[in-house]
This record gives sequence, C-alpha cells and structure tokens, in this order.
Amino acid sequence: MDRIRIVGGHRLNGTIPISGAKNAALPLMIASLLTEGTLTLENLPRLADVSQLARILANHGVDYTIEGKRSGDSDTQGQTVHLAARQIVDTTAPYDLVSKMRASFWVLAPLVARMGEAKVSLPGGCAIGTRPVDLLLMAMKDLGAEIEIEGGYAIARAKNGLKGGDINFPKVTVGGTHTALMGASLAHGTTVIHNAAREPEIVDLAECLMKMGAKIKGAGTKTIEIEGVARLNGARHAVLPDRIETGTYAMAVAMTGGDVLLQGARADLLQAALDVIEQTGAKCVQTNDGVRVTRNGGPIQPVDVTTEPYPGFPTDLQAQLMALVTRANGTSRITETIFENRFMHVSELARFGAQIRLDGDTAIIEGVEKLKGAPVMATDLRASVSLVIAALAAEGETTVNRVYHLDRGFEALEKKLGACGAEVERISAG
Ligand code: UD1
Repeated sequence: MDRIRIVGGHRLNGTIPISGAKNAALPLMIASLLTEGTLTLENLPRLADVSQLARILANHGVDYTIEGKRSGDSDTQGQTVHLAARQIVDTTAPYDLVSKMRASFWVLAPLVARMGEAKVSLPGGCAIGTRPVDLLLMAMKDLGAEIEIEGGYAIARAKNGLKGGDINFPKVTVGGTHTALMGASLAHGTTVIHNAAREPEIVDLAECLMKMGAKIKGAGTKTIEIEGVARLNGARHAVLPDRIETGTYAMAVAMTGGDVLLQGARADLLQAALDVIEQTGAKCVQTNDGVRVTRNGGPIQPVDVTTEPYPGFPTDLQAQLMALVTRANGTSRITETIFENRFMHVSELARFGAQIRLDGDTAIIEGVEKLKGAPVMATDLRASVSLVIAALAAEGETTVNRVYHLDRGFEALEKKLGACGAEVERISAG
C-alpha cells in the first residue's frame, strides 16, 4: 500500500489548481442513467471514487469514454468524459461494487425512474458512524415506489413509473435530495421537496438535469419543485470547483504560512469556512483567477465552530480545521452535528503531540506550540488530509499510511503541495 512522506516546516507559496468537485461529479455521472442520450461532463477530477463509479455504471450498461488528452494538458486539469446509457442492461447494483463507495447507492432512483425497478446493495463506505439510507428510501416511497429489503439489498419497484409527490425530509440530507431530484425529474406529475439540502453540489446536479430537459425550480433553497417529464436528453455540463479541496488547501496555507492562489476556486461556495479561516489569522480574497490565501507571521487564533448543513461550516472540513487549531494560541472548540463518530482523526493527531479532549460531540483543542512528525494512519477521506495538514507544520518527518483514502477524494495531492514548496513524496508499495 502506498504511503506519503512529508517533512514539515516549509511555508507554502505558489499556485494550486482546484479540481472539479468529487461530490458533484458522482451524482452527475449517475444522472447519465436517466437518458438514452450522451451526457458529457467536463472538469471531472481524476479520483479513485470516479473510476470506481465508472465501473459500477458500466455494469448497468453505461458506455464511458474519456476524451483524448491533448498535448499541453497537465494531469491536474480536469478530464472530459462521455457517458451514454443507451440501454440499461442490468438493474442490479451488487454488494461487491456498492460496498466500496456509499454514493453508488444513488443509482437506485434513476434506475427505478427509467426501468421501473432496481435492486441495489445496502452500502458500506466511509467509517463515519452509522450512515443509514432510510430517508433515501422514504423519498422513493413518496414517489410511488414499493420498497423491500431482502438479503442486504433494497429492491424498489414502480411498474408504471414513478409519480410526483410531496417529500418532507425530517433531516437535511444531501443523498436524499439527489435521490429525490433524479427520481422526480422522470416521474408523472409534480414533486415538492421540503427541507431540501442546499449544498452547491445539489444546485450543480439540478442545473445539469435542467440542461437534460428537466423542469426544476428552487434548487439551492429549502423547497424544490420538480415537474416530471416523459424523457430526458443528453447534455454537456462542467463540474463545479471542489469547495472541500479549496477549504483544505486554504487551511494548509493558514497552518504553514505563505501565499497561495487556489486557481479556479470560488469563495461563494465556502464562505462560512473562509470566514473561520480568516478568524484564525489568514486572509482569503477572491480574485479573477481564484481565491488567494495568505498568512504572514502572527499566531494562529483559536476558534469555536459547529458543523452544519450548507451554508454552515461543512462537516467535510471539520478534521482539517481541527488539525489547523492544534497549533492555535489558545483553546478551540469544534462541535460535529452531522455525523456521529467523525472524530477518528483525534487519536492520530495526538501522535503529533496535539492536545485534544472529547466531550460528546465536541472536541476541545488546547493549542500547542509545536507538533512533531510521526507515523500515522489514514482512517477516512477527510481525516487523512487533516494528518497531511498537521504534517506540513510538524517538526521532522511524518509518514501517512493507507493513503488510498486520500486518492478517493484528492487529485494529485502530493504534486499540488510539492509545487508550492512542501517536502512531500509518495512512496509506492512494491
Ligand atoms: C454527502 C457527502 C459527504 C458529506 C455529507 C454531509 C457526497 C458523495 N457525500 O454525504 O461528503 O459529508 O453529504 O454534507 O456528496 N441520514 C439519515 N438517513 C438517510 C440519509 C442520511 O439519517 O437516509 C443522515 C446521515 O446519517 C447524516 C445526515 O443525515 O447524519 C446527513 O447525511 P447526508 O447529507 O445524507 O450525507 P451523504 O449524502 O451520505
């Protein structure tokens, strides 16, 4: 298994290109199941999760082609991919594929909407607490599907197609909202989603669906109205920039000090996180080319932050923020409200000398002056990158083991950081 070796203590200076958002790319790829036409996605990141989903979609009959690389293209530039589901050849998503990536469960809605049935394995995925799919199944029932759970599979049927309905989410759910949007787009009649997730990736999916011919109003607000259509067509859509990658590198700069342009980033997609990063003492400014992050001298200031659904501070940046404030000039508090058990990075951060105490869903972090490099282990996608942030500022050498977690969500991480002066290398196994 690959490892990443980092020698800390270097400031970051330069430019980091921001990739297309993983969390938009996945539902957009899945939307290709809704049409016989070709869906062309630009700015798709090169990530293990994207390749894994391509394999899952191929199993259903999606023809997946990557547009030829032009000379001069760098491998941090997004790729253009054509997805064509002319015929759905299989409506079953088996355990061995779905268990590797939770979001692949989202194939359920488009398969039922188009084919009247689907059998999808209940997911595994990130080890961050129990992550049920009850609300996704509730949304499918509200759209008229019959649901059975059998042998570890969710079986959904709607022989005469899905029907528009009222969907009231008792809790904000991104996956539930994606499911409802895709199902309702091809349902008979009108659907209203109440308490919808407002994440930018929801808006990106809705915009792509509208290019495909869907009738959607209100994406990005709490109430989304969808008037179902009989069929959708192919379309061309560019994936929006990754706000989690943006926030991660912004925190890395806030940690080491320096001056980095996050090229292509959009501050409006993560304003709450940038506000917190500014409270720690860094500056984040939107320019024509992206977001410029600087921190010159001065201590890192402590913060008090609670994760919330968008537009609040994202749970996917919680671990990275914790790494940053391990070196703050005082005590920080970070409360996690979205996922239980999303503090696995705490014990790994302690290996650098961080002082963190847990009190229920709150972590209390006493800033220390110095971190020291150590061998550490990646546990989930966002937790792993928090270890990278700690390592960049730690004295001496760190090796991060199990970096396949990083490869799921961060494109060319060691190249991007290396180009800005970090001492970082991948050590390939075997
Ligand atoms: C998505 C993101 C993930 C992010 C999360 C919250 C993708 C591929 N993943 O995950 O990176 O951390 O949003 O912003 O986009 N819940 C239920 N029942 C359900 C579904 C969810 O109780 O049927 C709960 C979850 O356990 C969690 C909360 O709702 O407590 C929010 O989860 P949700 O927004 O659905 O997360 P995902 O869509 O899985």
